[in-house]
Amino acid sequence: MQVITTLIMACAMGSVSASPLNLGTSDLALGPKAKADAPAPGPGPGPVPVPSAAKPLNFDLKSKAQLPLPQRTVYQFPEDHTWVENLYVRDNGDILMTMMWPKASLYLLKNPSTNPEGTEPTLIHTFDDAQGLLGIAETAPDTFAVVSSKFSAMAAVVAGGSAIWEISLQDVANPKVRKVTDLPEGGFLNGLVKLHSAACRNVAPADRKTVLVSDSFNGLVYRVNTNTGAYEVAVKVPEMDPVEGAALPFGVNGIKIVGHYLYWANSDHTSMHRVAIDMTNGHMREGATVETLVTLKDTAFLDEFDIDEDGTIWGVTNADNKLIAMRPSAQGGSYEVVLGSNTEMTLAGDTSARFGKGAFNRRTLYITTGGASVVPVNGTITEPAKLVAVDTRGYLN
Ligand SMILES: *[C@@H]1O[C@H](CO)[C@@H](O)[C@H](O)[C@H]1NC(C)=O
Repeated sequence: MQVITTLIMACAMGSVSASPLNLGTSDLALGPKAKADAPAPGPGPGPVPVPSAAKPLNFDLKSKAQLPLPQRTVYQFPEDHTWVENLYVRDNGDILMTMMWPKASLYLLKNPSTNPEGTEPTLIHTFDDAQGLLGIAETAPDTFAVVSSKFSAMAAVVAGGSAIWEISLQDVANPKVRKVTDLPEGGFLNGLVKLHSAACRNVAPADRKTVLVSDSFNGLVYRVNTNTGAYEVAVKVPEMDPVEGAALPFGVNGIKIVGHYLYWANSDHTSMHRVAIDMTNGHMREGATVETLVTLKDTAFLDEFDIDEDGTIWGVTNADNKLIAMRPSAQGGSYEVVLGSNTEMTLAGDTSARFGKGAFNRRTLYITTGGASVVPVNGTITEPAKLVAVDTRGYLN
């Protein structure tokens, strides 16, 4: 046990402090925020510390901020019937966006915090043999893994047509692109995260370019070694399943690793879950049980999410255009809509959310949209895909 613990710690921890190995629910109240004397948490979607002390669980989510939260459109594509599915914030703050329709294109938007509205992103690359890109993550400095799929129409995936790619952006003008593997068993491959931190010394450096990829149709998470192309099912639990017989059978969607926990959103069940994983292979830890953190009662869908340094989970709802702040607790958690609604275009068809990086961007949440093209607002209203910046400062500070 001691040896296993050491290995997990070496793998799980980057620059953040150690997480407890307590698998119970007592550490689910993730706040209060990091101690004042702790080093400033890393910006953006990297691992955040999970407090070790058990906290009282009667914390009610109450925002001091004026709602809805302030927002602005950073960029909107010119064409209607466009869908941007995901984004990744580079260490320099620039944003990579993956388009899911009509083209499998990767875009780069520089300086999102300072660029005036309308500044055009750069088209980095359009991937072959696919109509859409989905999840993206950095697997090594300036090297990214991304999911591609074939689509017959917007959001209508072609069975067996998914693949994982690697793209190196050391020279943005001359990206190096390599197909890692086809993944024909994939149903609807969706979210993608890097498994190993750079501090994962017990995994060979080349194999640290391993990612987890969610499959929303099949209710499971693959592990893909982007170095060798080898893949296998890493986690498959009922809490990842779609609702049986649903019109849109979407289970596990957004995924994220914080400490040694895999967090995920279940779209159909509109719920957030986590389970402790073995950081060397991405499988559930022996004896680990799945925790349900929050279940939303009044929304149609739960898509991607990010988790801030306070432990608040920021999820987007796609089908009803909302941003929801969620606070996990053993009593079922609390949550509130902080921006958007089913009758508004502000976050029309919002698909993913990631915090920015850098001093002025840390509390800015960047949100991509699909323009409500599949579930039009008020039944008929759609718009082109866009990138929205939401100011979350003042929320639970
Ligand atoms: C949708 O309908 C509601 C109720 O009629 C209205 O208040 C709202 O402005 C409409 N939304 C849009 C984007 O037109």
